[in-house]
Amino acid sequence: APRGSGRAADDGGAAGGYESGYESDYESERYRPVPPGPRKDRREANWLMDTFNPRAEAGGVFDMVAQRLTDAFDGAFSRDISGAPVARGDISALLAEPLFKALYAWFLELGGIYRLPFGPKSFIVVSDPAIARHILKDNAANYSKGLLSEILKPIMGDGLIPASPEIAAKRRKVILPSVHNAYLRRMMSTFSLTAAELGDAIEENRARQVVGGAGEQTQSARGASGGEDQAQQHGGGFVIDMEQQFNHVTLDIVGRAVFNQTFGSVQAVEETEIVRAVYDVLKEADHRATFFLPYWDDPLLGRVVPRQARFRRALRVLNERLSELVGSARAASAAEGGQDDLERLQQRDYANVRDPSMLRFLVDMRGEDATDNQLRDDLMTLLIAGHETTSAVLTWALFELSQDPELLADVLAEVDPIMETREREAAEAAGGDSSAVPILTMDDVKDMPLLRCTVAETLRLYPQPPVLIRRSIEDDMSVPRGFNIVKNSDVFISTYNLHRSRATYGPDVEEFKPRRWMSDFGQGEVEGWDGYRASAMGLYPNESSSDFAFLPFGAGNRKCVGDVFAVCEAVTILAVLLRRMRFELAIAPEEVGMVTAATIHTESGLIMSAERREPPLTGASAAHARKAHGAGAGAGAGAG
Ligand code: HEM
Repeated sequence: APRGSGRAADDGGAAGGYESGYESDYESERYRPVPPGPRKDRREANWLMDTFNPRAEAGGVFDMVAQRLTDAFDGAFSRDISGAPVARGDISALLAEPLFKALYAWFLELGGIYRLPFGPKSFIVVSDPAIARHILKDNAANYSKGLLSEILKPIMGDGLIPASPEIAAKRRKVILPSVHNAYLRRMMSTFSLTAAELGDAIEENRARQVVGGAGEQTQSARGASGGEDQAQQHGGGFVIDMEQQFNHVTLDIVGRAVFNQTFGSVQAVEETEIVRAVYDVLKEADHRATFFLPYWDDPLLGRVVPRQARFRRALRVLNERLSELVGSARAASAAEGGQDDLERLQQRDYANVRDPSMLRFLVDMRGEDATDNQLRDDLMTLLIAGHETTSAVLTWALFELSQDPELLADVLAEVDPIMETREREAAEAAGGDSSAVPILTMDDVKDMPLLRCTVAETLRLYPQPPVLIRRSIEDDMSVPRGFNIVKNSDVFISTYNLHRSRATYGPDVEEFKPRRWMSDFGQGEVEGWDGYRASAMGLYPNESSSDFAFLPFGAGNRKCVGDVFAVCEAVTILAVLLRRMRFELAIAPEEVGMVTAATIHTESGLIMSAERREPPLTGASAAHARKAHGAGAGAGAGAG
């Protein structure tokens, strides 16, 4: 038995398959490594201090200290009875590149579970579906959010993401039901309207460009994409950073969905104080989620480091605003009849209800006496959890679609007839006004299986976040494949590695192929893993249909509460934009680059040219769509 005896491969199990033939993939062009080159300063400009930037200066003070500590202790305070192989190598690899990339390289070398010493501690890194299933589902009660909780508590308090198992169990009972079907149906119009606002904003940018006054977006995009000639190179169109645009649209949606307020960031000419505060807080959440040394807890450093002062200011502004919103929701609830029970709340006429937000539901729910502070923490968490993740999936989906014209044509063939119907209906309802905004429905989302699979495939190659963090509460001596995880171990479940495992996905693992989700794969091929069943896909391929090889929204008792919301949102935004605009990458694909924080961002923005699609496709597109659907039969039927 491999307990204490070494590598996963010894077990003769699935993990053995992880070992062969990977190096070449890692080096190959199909893997999109972060290319060298300057990092876009919008993300890093106010990073800590120039003189103390370990990532900018690999081999800097922090790096050296971490390496010394690691050499001296080699995880000495962690009892190593795990039986897992140990990752050896230069700690600067961890600091100089995105964490998920370093973890991936060791996965190729060491297999589905390994131990990573870091200073006096060590981390268990898991990339095996059977072990992930055990930790997230079968023995989930033995795992807390650990490190993540420590990092995010100052920002999210007792909100769900960092919440202790006890608080999470309590709050999930209210927060999960708040995302019910009637609410989601109402949100479909929020998604459609906000996406239409983004379409308008993009076109207005072009208008400014055409009359000669380059807008702010255009200028920054040009700066990043290397020159004035960019517009000419793209048929007289204009270039725009779509990652930034997706940040705006998802922020506005989350504001409307969670507390019935818009941040107005899609349409704003200038950033408001509150939007700036949101972005500063998000940036800090990102920073803390990927930084190993919690210097912000140090009384001196926490005060003198400029980004920390800025963060505290932003947090104050945002908390005050969220507290006000909690206050007004409570007042409105009392004025309009007060609390009600779960069933009646879910059966309200959401098409006409004045405030459909999650906040109002949480306040209205009878028997849930959450304090104002708890509600504020819930809002902050939903705001952060629901924004960057969706923005990132939109960014990478559009990037991948721009790289595959055939796939894009098939997606459009699916989107066009549906959009056309909704456009016609909207125009009729508006007395013939053809500019009326088409509103998609949840059935429309179900009827776009290729686009749904495109979103899923994006989450496979660009999982958000790329690692799930847990800490064992007690010794866990029953980990599959004969390993142990002792009490208080910090565990990283690398979704990035799980999703790029050749053992489960096969030789085309590095390719962006949404149609892979439309048929079964891997069944009976890997011991301890059941393979993927397309018939069980549902709205999106998930942890059950993939037997934990694909965890786009996590799994088990801490699974994402916004999964259906996010899939409907992403599909709607993509459908609306692809119907209206033709996007083309305006920089070389390698220039896009990946950097990690809590989510995977681009390195230099998603710089694209955007032109209005004219005339919109009609009639013929329906025939094409039928053909495309025919090719991928089954997935649509499985949508649930
Ligand atoms: C594409 C978009 C999204 C992705 C990829 C995503 C992904 C995830 C993942 C992987 C987790 C599990 C984290 C873990 O196990 O440690 C999670 C948790 C969570 N997500 Fe999402 N999410 C998305 C959108 C949303 C939205 C729209 C909301 C809310 C409106 C939301 C709210 C949450 C919350 C509250 C949790 C914490 C649940 C808990 O710990 O009990 N997410 N999300």
